[in-house]
Amino acid sequence: MTVAIEMGHTTAGAPANLDLEELLATRLLVQGNSGSGKSHLLRRLLEQSAPWVQQTIIDPEGDFVSLGDRYGHLVIDAEQHTERGLQAAGERARIHRVSTVLNLEGLDAENQMRRAAAFLGGLFEVARDHWYPMLVVVDEAQLFAPAVAGEVSDEARKLSLGAMTNLMCRGRKRGLAGIIATQRLAKLAKNVAAEASNFLMGRTFLDIDMARAADLLGMERRQAEAFRDLERGQFMALGPALSRRPLGLRIGPTDTSPRNGTPRLMAMPEAALEDARAIILAAPPPEAVRAPRRTASPDLLDQLMAAKSAALEIRPEPVEPQISAEDLAERRERVDRVLRAILAQPDAGFRVIGVLYQEFVVRCRIEGLASVVPDLPEFRRMLTRARAGLGSDMAAGDDAWQDVSVRASLLPDDMQGVFMMIARAAKEGWPCPSDAAIARAYGSHSLRRARRLLTYIEEQGLIVCQLDGVGRRTVTLVELAWATAPGDPNAEEVEQGSLAL
Ligand SMILES: Nc1ncnc2c1ncn2[C@@H]1O[C@H](COP(=O)(O)OP(=O)(O)OP(=O)(O)O)[C@@H](O)[C@H]1O
Ligand SMILES: [Mg+2]
Repeated sequence: MTVAIEMGHTTAGAPANLDLEELLATRLLVQGNSGSGKSHLLRRLLEQSAPWVQQTIIDPEGDFVSLGDRYGHLVIDAEQHTERGLQAAGERARIHRVSTVLNLEGLDAENQMRRAAAFLGGLFEVARDHWYPMLVVVDEAQLFAPAVAGEVSDEARKLSLGAMTNLMCRGRKRGLAGIIATQRLAKLAKNVAAEASNFLMGRTFLDIDMARAADLLGMERRQAEAFRDLERGQFMALGPALSRRPLGLRIGPTDTSPRNGTPRLMAMPEAALEDARAIILAAPPPEAVRAPRRTASPDLLDQLMAAKSAALEIRPEPVEPQISAEDLAERRERVDRVLRAILAQPDAGFRVIGVLYQEFVVRCRIEGLASVVPDLPEFRRMLTRARAGLGSDMAAGDDAWQDVSVRASLLPDDMQGVFMMIARAAKEGWPCPSDAAIARAYGSHSLRRARRLLTYIEEQGLIVCQLDGVGRRTVTLVELAWATAPGDPNAEEVEQGSLAL
């Protein structure tokens, strides 16, 4: 027996259900531009699931405080509590199984991040006895897990990103099911988005978000154009808790009566907690008696590298324990050769990484290199380096290049090669790559897209583009201050041998 949450209707008129138990195991990502109906969707989900499962909402705008009146959620005004107080409140909310709304309205970005992180930390770190299933809904998730650094302090960002990463990557074991919504997929940290296996995609205008949405849904980018035409309240659904193939649905009205059915989920406590406010929000215990907190804020690069490709199941065999160093170097060189051979194919620049990787694995196996096949993240790094015209020798050991790779990793995967290519040109003082060269490295034929891509990378604060009096373009890398020589954006492709794939 499963608990089906009715979200609305499919375009064909059938009820569109969300399998709650499956959702608890697989998490959900909602994307759509402002006004597409994300918050409405979340409200529908919360209302419909309130009888079955404990929930908490991280609510930057105070949109959800009304759930308190009707469904009994305890509204916590984050403005009125310290981080320590909120950490304790998070733990107690789990211990006493009280549904909550964390209202972050009125706080600046820095404090929104810090206090949300503290509360999420409390939910996460509660003792094992209290690991009951719980929905953790985060609206405007890009505020808490931004893809690139903003105005806030590094510390706040690290805390918040760490909490969101814990929620999405390690929360499942602890019963926490992350449900995150964002206006702009491209603004959300990749590792956080990558852990969701269920997607609801609403109206989306920007190519960059559409492309990322298409990648997540495993659709052709062309098909993703349809996201532009979705109406308010219309979403494309995919994932084990929703539908095995992309399914159009329209979200139903909110504030409907609870549905019946016998849940396999743990029933919520019968009696309401006598005085939830007093118990959950009592002053935190003095510092001395608290066990020291394990601060789980993994290094950003590690987090990014840990981001999994949900689409790919291929796992290379583990490395044999005893291979000599020379042997290993020799095999690595052969692996490099396999990669170069694949990239030498005329259409290699236009193929998606998953396809390239599959071919790469097969070729390595044929060459008897199964034991040293890089995994997908490593392959991605090799590919990025190769596309930027770097040998594997160049990337290692050079601090400035490490820095470039870290910056590259803040961009969506498909843009990293382009960024690295430009960085290489800037480092060497070569002319700025033309639009055609950029398009090719991006796997596209569209010059317009190449220019938009450059604009996007510039908006992320990684590069600055300038045109001189005769229309030649210079790109400067922010902070490193490496600059390309002026280059003609309209030049035919590949005047620099190093850019050839
Ligand atoms: N399925 C729906 N049925 C009826 N009204 C809807 C539906 N979806 C959204 N709306 C209405 O459309 C308006 C915008 O929706 P909503 O606030 O959910 O958008 P949003 O995607 O959260 O936008 P933002 O990113 O700006 O917060 C709201 O007034 C909401 O009540
Ligand atoms: Mg909203």
